[in-house]
Amino acid sequence: MTEHETLDHTGNDGETLREKIAAELLAARGRTTLLTSVVEEPDLVKQHSPLMSPLVWDLAHVANQEELWLLREVGGRTPMHPEIDPLYDAFEHPRALRPTLPLLAPTQARGYGHEVRGRVLDLLEVVRFGTSQLTDGGFAFGMIAQHEVQHDETMLATHQLRVGAPVLAAPPPRPAPADAATLPAEVYVAGGPFTMGTSAEPWALDNERPAHVVDVPAFYLDTTPVTNAAYAEFIADGGYDDPRLWTADGWAHRQRAGLKAPLFWRWEGEWARVSFGETAPLIPNEPVLHVCWHEADAYARWAGRRLPTEAEWEKAARYDPASGRSRRYPWGDADPTPAVANLGQRHLRPAPAGSYPDGAAPCGARQLIGDVWEWTSSDFLPYPGFTAWPYKEYSEVFFGPDYKVLRGGAFGVSPVACRGTFRNWDYPIRRQIFAGFRTARSGPELGRA
Ligand SMILES: [Fe+2]
Repeated sequence: MTEHETLDHTGNDGETLREKIAAELLAARGRTTLLTSVVEEPDLVKQHSPLMSPLVWDLAHVANQEELWLLREVGGRTPMHPEIDPLYDAFEHPRALRPTLPLLAPTQARGYGHEVRGRVLDLLEVVRFGTSQLTDGGFAFGMIAQHEVQHDETMLATHQLRVGAPVLAAPPPRPAPADAATLPAEVYVAGGPFTMGTSAEPWALDNERPAHVVDVPAFYLDTTPVTNAAYAEFIADGGYDDPRLWTADGWAHRQRAGLKAPLFWRWEGEWARVSFGETAPLIPNEPVLHVCWHEADAYARWAGRRLPTEAEWEKAARYDPASGRSRRYPWGDADPTPAVANLGQRHLRPAPAGSYPDGAAPCGARQLIGDVWEWTSSDFLPYPGFTAWPYKEYSEVFFGPDYKVLRGGAFGVSPVACRGTFRNWDYPIRRQIFAGFRTARSGPELGRA
């Protein structure tokens, strides 16, 4: 197989890699600290939803994973507090039961995190990269930086579920660019093979590997994510009352859960949305947020379309017809900047549909990276040649028809855990995640219709 990818973007120079790792760990900890310091202690230990852990659990769990993978596995150090390991093992205790555990108190959890981090930075100065699979390209450090920012996103979702006076603030994204209103509704992606997944990205996780060629027939994809205004039309047209628009499972869930609108929408004579404790009128041209897979799927059917497959999404985001290569991001191989994508909790909401023209993909689609996670029609499955790494619980135990794949990352996702190959997955009924969607339809092949 020809590998059409950029090799080792972090550079093989150990000093550059050390600096990059230190910067990513620092950035992640900055966000963790902010999300856990803006609320008082009772809010840190309280469970805001049975879907989420108390924030203080995330805080110590992040430190515990860092100790486990970096200090013990890479550094060969002895466990600092082995007695607490089982408390912070995500597979041992479901989220709903975590508040009943004898967890570290906030001060202890912060102290533990601080101590681990100090030792990790000492280790980082002396570690030799490339001496094992874990240190190859700094992988274990990259995995831990990504793990922490993923918990920052989870903690942001906990903040959105939290009831009480607002504690988080951020400037709104810029208004839509001038051409947003005149963009074509859909873009065309020609049929043919492309390279999906990666074997070259040093910090890619096991489920993104290996690179493999997939033949994707021609399709059309929405230029932007589906907006609040478009979704409100689906509601007004009786979309939630027509079982023909839903799969059997989706309709059963819609009935059981009493779904009528996205999570956090309120009807007050017009639609309003609760966002981090503030209720405000819905912004019509903002991508719809907090819908489950079943709602996205029903909307697509109502619109006479369907959700894109995961391969379609990745081809639209990465394939460059001019070179025949799959790139790291829609805009090319360079890491994300604030000019090309809404990532990193800089804003606490998605940007208007049509934003970030500089981040557009070669096919013309915008906002594939950042803003909202996008549901795809695909189940979470291993790529051909998949190998579990560094442990089965990372991805392998989740493969199968129970989970649907989401792509592209949201405003709450850090750039270090977001790229064209990155795969997220969740149950099709989940709505607390920062998820929206866009729709697709099949060909015809241009010129052959
Ligand atoms: Fe975790």
